[in-house]
Amino acid sequence: MPESQEYVDPAQLRVAARRGGKSVGRLTELIRQSVRLVWASGRGLFVALLALQVVAALALAGQVLAIKSVLDALLIVGAGGAATAQLWIPVLVLAALTAATSIVTAVQGHLQRLLGERVARAMWGRVLDVATAVNLRHFESADFFNRLQRVQANALSRPYQVTQGLIAMGGALAASIGVGAALVSISPLLLPLLVVGGLPVLLTSRRESKLEFDFSISQTPLLRMRQYLTLLQTGRDEAKEVRAFGLSRWLRGRFDSSYEEYLTNLTAHVRRRSILSVIGNLGTSVVLVVTLGTLVWLIVGGQVSVAGAGAAIVAIRMLATQVQALFAGVQRIFESGLFLDDLRAFLEHGEFAAREDEGPESPPGFETLHAEGVSFSYPGSTEPAVKDVDITIRTGEVVAIVGENGSGKTTLAKLLARLYEPDEGAIRWDGVDVRRWSTSSVRSRIAVIFQDFVRYAFSASDNLAIGDVTRPADPARVREAARAAGADRAIENLPDGYATPLSRIFSGGRDLSGGQWQRVAIARGYYRDAPLVILDEPSAALDPRAEHDLFASLRETLQGRTVLFISHRFSTVRSADRIYVMDGGAVAEHGSHDELMAKQGIYAELFQLQAAAYLSAEETG
Ligand SMILES: Nc1ncnc2c1ncn2[C@@H]1O[C@H](COP(=O)(O)OP(=O)(O)OP(=O)(O)O)[C@@H](O)[C@H]1O
Ligand SMILES: [Mg+2]
Repeated sequence: MPESQEYVDPAQLRVAARRGGKSVGRLTELIRQSVRLVWASGRGLFVALLALQVVAALALAGQVLAIKSVLDALLIVGAGGAATAQLWIPVLVLAALTAATSIVTAVQGHLQRLLGERVARAMWGRVLDVATAVNLRHFESADFFNRLQRVQANALSRPYQVTQGLIAMGGALAASIGVGAALVSISPLLLPLLVVGGLPVLLTSRRESKLEFDFSISQTPLLRMRQYLTLLQTGRDEAKEVRAFGLSRWLRGRFDSSYEEYLTNLTAHVRRRSILSVIGNLGTSVVLVVTLGTLVWLIVGGQVSVAGAGAAIVAIRMLATQVQALFAGVQRIFESGLFLDDLRAFLEHGEFAAREDEGPESPPGFETLHAEGVSFSYPGSTEPAVKDVDITIRTGEVVAIVGENGSGKTTLAKLLARLYEPDEGAIRWDGVDVRRWSTSSVRSRIAVIFQDFVRYAFSASDNLAIGDVTRPADPARVREAARAAGADRAIENLPDGYATPLSRIFSGGRDLSGGQWQRVAIARGYYRDAPLVILDEPSAALDPRAEHDLFASLRETLQGRTVLFISHRFSTVRSADRIYVMDGGAVAEHGSHDELMAKQGIYAELFQLQAAAYLSAEETG
């Protein structure tokens, strides 16, 4: 059985592949992927943008020819060979074409913004799906957070950038062909020179994209630290402690030095990138000079007319711009490519998670739950948090777990709730290993309220109904759960009752006291109609009366449901059907209160310690 699942980060498998990409095949692969993404999120806009690029290209080529006509007409008029009126037509055509180009560019800008937002929405959707589905183990790993950070900061926008690069490339290509054709009609010799002019930039740009990616990888931890420091200085929950401890200057100091370090690295990075672009662009300029020299030579030799030469100079400028745009597009795609690999590796976590969740539906509940020889270590720690634990819970029982801080109680609760899988041993429902069934269906049978439950900044009603989102919120059941957990009075006193947001970060919101929050969390657990309810220190923040009421009513409220609760208060633990005492990750003792007291072991010692504290207070008080 101890089939310890070797944990593989799918991202690691990609590292080798990431470095190896080869130019043309890789380019087409990247384009294919990105186009598929963009196509799925906004095909209409994508087609419109491509069409506009063709229009822009035609308008540009038309401009070259119109300039030549204008120059021709000007020379004739200047030589007194024709009436000024003949100038009007070519000038108007040129003006119309120029206007068309500007209009197309403006419309393209707006459409691109829309398309970019649509792609971003689609990408966010996928990333969030993965972030909420991945195995909880990932949330113990700094590498996971680093990648998540890069994906959010960088990779999300990349598919769109590739498409933008692609559209720009398509446009530049169309324009280059158009302007090139116009140029060839003036003098064919100039064309090859111009195409060669783009090569230096192409060569340096690949190197630049690699630099950019490596820089991003190396700076992610620093960036995350800075964001964390920002959160500490701006967060609502942190604000009071920052003031109480006078931390602002100290935190600012850390923030400043972290930013300083980043700026130093950025300076070096920018210098390297600049050198590369200078080299690339110098190369291009050299070719341009050669081209213009050739043109002069052609005019002198009488092979090109003066008007033709004028138009050619404009065309060369245009073409140089277009060829640059073409290569810039290629560069953008390559640069995005490395980030896209990062993104894909992240999204692969989702496939992993989906595979982990495969399996048939679990039965609706169990007669007996057994944990058999369960051991578990958190990723990266050598000492197991739970060691060879055996426990039994029968349906309808109320079972308690006690033990000192760090003895493994919460970890055991997480294992029973199937948030982690045991490294060794198994959790069985009526003899069947729960791993036989899909993770999510097992989890759907369990309501677990953690020690550090979440305080959602939603309405009070949502804070309860979030316990079961598979069905539409039922106001009657929400009230019932609130009443059972003793949260009803606090909620009804809120300005908008159950509709009041439970956070001041939203207008009209109110905050609750620690104990009131805890009641809301317990009510959330009650609202979830699950056969097994796990409560991790549910009474830690409750006043004595509330605590008494909670445990006195537990059986009645959760009729027939099985309850596992963790507590440090022995007065509440007493009433449990069975008590497990954990020590250093293992179960040290178990039995009813009376059995454990008779044993005179850890339980009896801790119980007497607590009882003695009350008694002596009573005596001296
Ligand atoms: N996410 C984690 N990663 C690594 N180690 C952890 C993690 N959470 C807990 N541990 C370690 O596992 C052990 C058991 O922790 P656990 O939270 O289960 O204790 P506990 O009995 O619930 O304690 P408490 O009474 O303080 O709530 C401790 O040594 C703790 O340091
Ligand atoms: Mg705990």
